[in-house]
Amino acid sequence: MVCITMKTSIQVVAILLLAVLTIAAIDFSFCNGSHDVVCPEREKQALLSFKQDLKDPSDRLSSWKVDEDCCKWAGVICDNLTGHVLDLHLRNPPFSYPDTSLGGEINPSLLNLKHLNYLDLSGNDFQGIPIPSFIGSLATLQYLNLSDARFEGTIPHQLGNLSGLRFLSLKGEMDVENLQWLLGLSNLEHLDLSGVNLASERNWLQ
Ligand SMILES: *[C@@H]1O[C@H](CO)[C@@H](O)[C@H](O)[C@H]1NC(C)=O
Ligand SMILES: *[C@@H]1O[C@H](CO)[C@@H](O)[C@H](O)[C@H]1NC(C)=O
Ligand SMILES: *[C@@H]1O[C@H](CO)[C@@H](O)[C@H](O)[C@H]1NC(C)=O
Ligand SMILES: *[C@@H]1O[C@H](CO)[C@@H](O)[C@H](O)[C@H]1NC(C)=O
Repeated sequence: MVCITMKTSIQVVAILLLAVLTIAAIDFSFCNGSHDVVCPEREKQALLSFKQDLKDPSDRLSSWKVDEDCCKWAGVICDNLTGHVLDLHLRNPPFSYPDTSLGGEINPSLLNLKHLNYLDLSGNDFQGIPIPSFIGSLATLQYLNLSDARFEGTIPHQLGNLSGLRFLSLKGEMDVENLQWLLGLSNLEHLDLSGVNLASERNWLQ
């Protein structure tokens, strides 16, 4: 009886060992294949919707094609291992001639980029629309630059929910009702609000 139990447990151990080795092998080959990661379909669709609502007269986003891996599109940086979209570098250089500004609307499809770390839309020309409040729900952002992009109106206090933000640049002709929301940005290392109208803020010294 004891003997049979011993034998069984050796078998169990052997099977477990085999399982562990198999998993390790699968894991390893997966890891090795990581040079070929492509962006997840959901994130590609999110970017295509984002592009659809933008005005792009100079066709800066011509590489954003449905049949191409979005990790190869201009301005898009993905995670090497997972393919998730991490960065959108869509800054427009100052005084670009011919004008290469992006404009139009910012589609909330960006909320489907669950790993977005870096968003730079500075220097573009959004022709006086306000910063959309959903930007405050891009919870993984560490870098946000909307400077000199002709956003106007009130800066949405929802930006105070971006608690991981380290760089925030909102230079431009915008208003801010109060600065309470800045208190939520506990990781901030760099803040640029130059040009922003604080006239209605009476408590800013606090
Ligand atoms: C991993 O990839 C390298 C280079 O692409 C290749 O030389 C190597 O044989 C691969 N190893 C395995 C275990 O597939
Ligand atoms: C991706 O890999 C490249 C080259 O191997 C490396 O230079 C880069 O830092 C990596 N990027 C990330 C986000 O890990
Ligand atoms: C934000 O963009 C502006 C204009 O493109 C640039 O001058 C500034 O350095 C950027 N801010 C940060 C924190 O990178
Ligand atoms: C900000 O975050 C808080 C706490 O997670 C949540 O209750 C609130 O609705 C958020 N506000 C906005 C505008 O997203």
